[in-house]
Amino acid sequence: MTTTQPASTNLQERFQPAGNPLREGLRIERTPDPCAMVIFGASGDLTYRKLMPALYDLALERLLPAGFSVIGFAHRDMDAESFKAHLREGVERFSRFRPIDDAIWESFAEGISYVRGDFNNPEDYERLSVELTAVDTQRGSMGNRMYYLATPPEFYANIVSCLGAKHLTHREDGAWQRVIVEKPFGHDLESAQGLNKAVNEGFDERDVFRIDHYLGKETVQNILAFRFANGIYEPIWNRQYVDHVEITVAESIGIEGRGSYYDDTGALRDMAQNHMMQLLSLVAMEPPGSLHADAVRDEKVKVLHALRPINPDLVNRSAVRAQYADGFVSGKQVPGYREEDRVADGSLTETYVALKLFVDNWRWADVPFYLRTGKRLAKRVTEIAVHFKPVPHRLFSSQASQNLEPNLLVLEIQPDEGMALKFAVKVPGPTMRLRPVNMVFQYGTAFNTGSPDAYERLLLDAMLGDGTLFTRRDEVEAAWRTVTQILDGWSNLPDDQIPQFEAGTWGPMEADAFLNREGRSWRRP
Ligand code: BG6
Repeated sequence: MTTTQPASTNLQERFQPAGNPLREGLRIERTPDPCAMVIFGASGDLTYRKLMPALYDLALERLLPAGFSVIGFAHRDMDAESFKAHLREGVERFSRFRPIDDAIWESFAEGISYVRGDFNNPEDYERLSVELTAVDTQRGSMGNRMYYLATPPEFYANIVSCLGAKHLTHREDGAWQRVIVEKPFGHDLESAQGLNKAVNEGFDERDVFRIDHYLGKETVQNILAFRFANGIYEPIWNRQYVDHVEITVAESIGIEGRGSYYDDTGALRDMAQNHMMQLLSLVAMEPPGSLHADAVRDEKVKVLHALRPINPDLVNRSAVRAQYADGFVSGKQVPGYREEDRVADGSLTETYVALKLFVDNWRWADVPFYLRTGKRLAKRVTEIAVHFKPVPHRLFSSQASQNLEPNLLVLEIQPDEGMALKFAVKVPGPTMRLRPVNMVFQYGTAFNTGSPDAYERLLLDAMLGDGTLFTRRDEVEAAWRTVTQILDGWSNLPDDQIPQFEAGTWGPMEADAFLNREGRSWRRP
């Protein structure tokens, strides 16, 4: 297929000021207040792989406030020095900027301390409170605190209530107290409502930052820019022109040693309830009145509220689930899901799910949104494909247009970040023959700078009190409503089998049949 290059990269370079405008803009316009961050579950993987590397990267880019401090809180027996050594190792492995800069690390690490404690023991929070006061005095954090719940969700309620009991959730002096909550945020609608209630008992909703790391990805944020900073797409972004929308989040990795979590969770809860619902709402939302956090989230939540209810008794009309069996991924033999560590024998947990959803509103009435996600698929790719309707009248002979396909716009979220618009052109020659070509935009070619990790952006936004890229309580619950309808449907099905597919392929035959019977097929990105 022919590739049309983006409008000249040189042109873009010519119009870009020297340096890195994005980063400089952030530094000038967005400096958070001095603050301390307490990480509950600080000895875990998330802190090691994601949080600390992101914070170090922010320190390196001089985006952190002066005197920024981190207090780790966990039950592992460590002191501040061994905690720092452990974190440094994580930063060395996962920072975007390697090798690490010793001077920056040293100055960043001066603000790191550790409190050994039990999440459920109120007495241990007394020591945390003492440490926070010391940090305020020594490092000038002025009572501003960000609590990061990087623990399993069963601890959230107790952590919040212990913080409350020690008066660590509110202050009279105007200093802010915020909480960042990690997924999984609930197991179904009811448990999500319970968690929300527990968290909101300690913190006002505007101080709660529920992480969905997809919202921190540059390409996901760009959906808003693409839709609402350009005038030409909005008029065609509706049922009159769009035939269907296909959202794919395919992974080639398996469950990466997380068997006990995953076997209890499955693809629907792990990926669809959060990341995919967020992609769907960004694509389908109405233009917000402003970029204020609540203006954006109001529009997103309206999409989720407009999702057509799924009758659990007819769940197979809306959802397909499957599990990977053994196979080859990138030439390497991999075991089937049931052979993975800490997965129950004969497990029925889905590693693949495909959904058909409808957004019942004026703009999208009867336009299907097909979503699919899975582990151990043929390749890692996340994309949103907007399939437009065919032309209303066939002007060209069937011979001329035999290769013609309707227009297609693909937002490539990862790993090849960019966009492609497919349209028809005449093949040079004496006869009228048509074929599709792609007009392509690629981040890598257009910008000389790598994208920050999602956690960098999200941590910075939470420090700034900007909730735009975090999920609000009603959004989480609305997404769970649809997901719970599917879970209820599955739980009523005869419980003894789940389709299998070979690892390294594009999923089960059942998912192909699901689309084929509507005269459509999945893309093979
Ligand atoms: C996480 C899921 O939320 O997202 C993982 O728990 C999944 O199972 C991961 O692998 C995918 O994130 P990314 O950024 O690699 O697409």
